[in-house]
Amino acid sequence: MQDSNGKRALNIALPKGRLGESVYGLFEQSGYASSQMGDGTRRLIFESDSGEARYFWVKPSDVWAYVERGVADIGIAGKDILLEYEPDVYELLDLGVGKCRMAVAALKGFRANPQRTLRVATKFANIARKYYAEQGRDIDIIPLHGSIELAPIVGLSDVIVDIVETGTTLRENNLEVIAEIVPLSARLIANKANYAFESARIDGIVDQIAGLLSEREQG
Ligand code: PRP
Repeated sequence: MQDSNGKRALNIALPKGRLGESVYGLFEQSGYASSQMGDGTRRLIFESDSGEARYFWVKPSDVWAYVERGVADIGIAGKDILLEYEPDVYELLDLGVGKCRMAVAALKGFRANPQRTLRVATKFANIARKYYAEQGRDIDIIPLHGSIELAPIVGLSDVIVDIVETGTTLRENNLEVIAEIVPLSARLIANKANYAFESARIDGIVDQIAGLLSEREQG
């Protein structure tokens, strides 16, 4: 699809869910609204009314793949996912939304035995491996896909490496943070080759969104 100036639509991968919807609001306010975007629809692709943008709704942890391969020119991905998969993309803007942190947590009062390999349950094996490699600590990764907090409670692991947002899940399961690894938030990413051709358009969008975010912060 081309817009009225004959330019191709910019392809934008948005993470399905609350974060994606709130970020779509920023694109909408920047002049890329799509009246096809209705409540409850299961469609995965939407064109903006101006024909300048096309949105893909993507599983949050898959956004980077669409962007790295250039199917999407830009996308929104959590810093956790970028650190875990290390895609070869540009990170153009910290949106400052979806703020949380990557942390090590364990049962309250847990003391690690330094003589023994530490059993670490996580969805983020790469982040966990790097973190403990820097500390020269031997670990055994137990890869899980959800409900990570259960692992130390039932003795599957000693600690977990996971996202902490409000801290409620930890509290309600008698766990506590024992080390902070890195703060996280949503980032706007771009395909490197596509950016070389579309830098003016992409920079324009990034500037508009950055402006909206700073207005929000001040308001
Ligand atoms: C994430 C994360 C924690 C929880 C943290 O899980 O893995 O379990 O949110 O949030 P909180 O600090 O506000 O309680 P998610 O909801 O994605 O579910 P999951 O168990 O399937 O990973």
